[in-house]
Amino acid sequence: SEQGCLSIVVLGASGDLAKKKTFPALYHLFEQGFIQSGEVHIFGYARSNLSDDGLRERIRGYLKGAPEDLSEFLQLIKYVSGSYDTGEGFEKLNRAISEYEVSKSSGSYRRLFYLALPPSVYPSVCKMIRTYCMNPSSHPGWTRVIVEKPFGKDLDSAEELSAQLGELFEEHQLYRIDHYLGKELVQNLLVLRFANRLFLPLWNRDNIDNIQIVFREDFGTEGRGGYFDQYGIIRDIIQNHLLQVFCLVAMEKPVSLKPEHIRDEKVKVLQSVNPIKPEEVVLGQYDGYKDDPTVPDDSNTPTFASVVLRVHNERWEGVPFILKAGKALSSKKAEVRVQFKDVPGDIFRSKKQGRNEFVIRLQPSEAMYMKLTVKKPGLEMATEQSELDLSYGMRYQNVKIPEAYERLILDTIRGDQQHFVRRDELQAAWKIFTPLLHDIDDGKLKALPYEPGSRGPKEADELSARVGYVQTHGYIWVPPTLA
Ligand code: BG6
Repeated sequence: SEQGCLSIVVLGASGDLAKKKTFPALYHLFEQGFIQSGEVHIFGYARSNLSDDGLRERIRGYLKGAPEDLSEFLQLIKYVSGSYDTGEGFEKLNRAISEYEVSKSSGSYRRLFYLALPPSVYPSVCKMIRTYCMNPSSHPGWTRVIVEKPFGKDLDSAEELSAQLGELFEEHQLYRIDHYLGKELVQNLLVLRFANRLFLPLWNRDNIDNIQIVFREDFGTEGRGGYFDQYGIIRDIIQNHLLQVFCLVAMEKPVSLKPEHIRDEKVKVLQSVNPIKPEEVVLGQYDGYKDDPTVPDDSNTPTFASVVLRVHNERWEGVPFILKAGKALSSKKAEVRVQFKDVPGDIFRSKKQGRNEFVIRLQPSEAMYMKLTVKKPGLEMATEQSELDLSYGMRYQNVKIPEAYERLILDTIRGDQQHFVRRDELQAAWKIFTPLLHDIDDGKLKALPYEPGSRGPKEADELSARVGYVQTHGYIWVPPTLA
């Protein structure tokens, strides 16, 4: 590994994201030896007046590990307070970083800035970093910046933000994080699709009837209604997380595994998506959402949406991709469900039992399973639905699946942008959803009410059925457990 000095700066250090995701991810990297004392220094930056220990105490409760490890890790963290738009705090931050760097006489100097901040301050914070905190050009090494969604609210605002950041940093210094790209089974999609002869000839309109990409949560927007109401479920989940999964499911084979080759293919498939038809959209808002005092009484913000994407290319013409996400539903899971066409000239009446499906369960209980029709064991010549099941908990016992953020921060340190969103990719993503989002914001499309703890508005199931999805009744896949 590279030797030298690595400074990791978490801006917005006292916020929710930093406490719940960023610091725990850094701790895991430390625990596994990917970042080490002596080499790495971590700085928390925020406006509040806190001591080093004050910050350490705030995050301690979110870290799980051996007490000695924990204390050693926490000692690596320093706190610097300052505003997000004046030079003073950032000069102070730069001095704090440099203090450690001067003690190093060899190796490279690496500065990683993690913006766990509301997007409204991105431009000013980036300007401050650019002005006061860059790795001096006399030093070997780099400066990299991780930014979190939301990257704008629509095409124009996203482009404006991209242009502002683009004036301050080169594209290779900017890491736009979408944490779904750090999930084990999302990363596996590329391997599954392109390393298996089995799937290659099947993965197209000749064999596949429809594909669902579904995200469900069994809790509402409690505690973050203020943020959520400005964005809604499409901007919060579908335009980023589910669309990234869509890209990996639908794109053509990249020329190689180089990050730019992979991202080229993602852009291409996004550009092939047809405009969304309003009649292929169902929006919902759960009853009780507006009880949150931070949510206006007349809010039309969807907490549920089902949107059909249609890809205009040789592989996918006519195959609906149903992207569905909702809060306050009956269960918590995320999965890709590929439903195959009926068997032509079927002699078993297996149609009654349901179609072949290939399901990639992203979370929880990571798994892939394939629903098949088999002979029911016994004397009768009867058929039933069963499955070929690769459940990670069974197959990979005692293997720890890394957290998404952990992996992505490590990628940033290593300079690998494969699992980050490129500027033109972001633009293509916003192009798809902006007309729909504007119609919702203008009240032209209304969110239908649904019961918390339900499947969402029944109209969404009707939409799926209308575009071709056939639900299998009487079959439920149960994640296997160790005896
Ligand atoms: C975040 C959204 O990006 O992803 C949240 O803002 C959502 O609303 C979360 O709860 C889901 O992430 P995960 O990893 O728990 O599926």
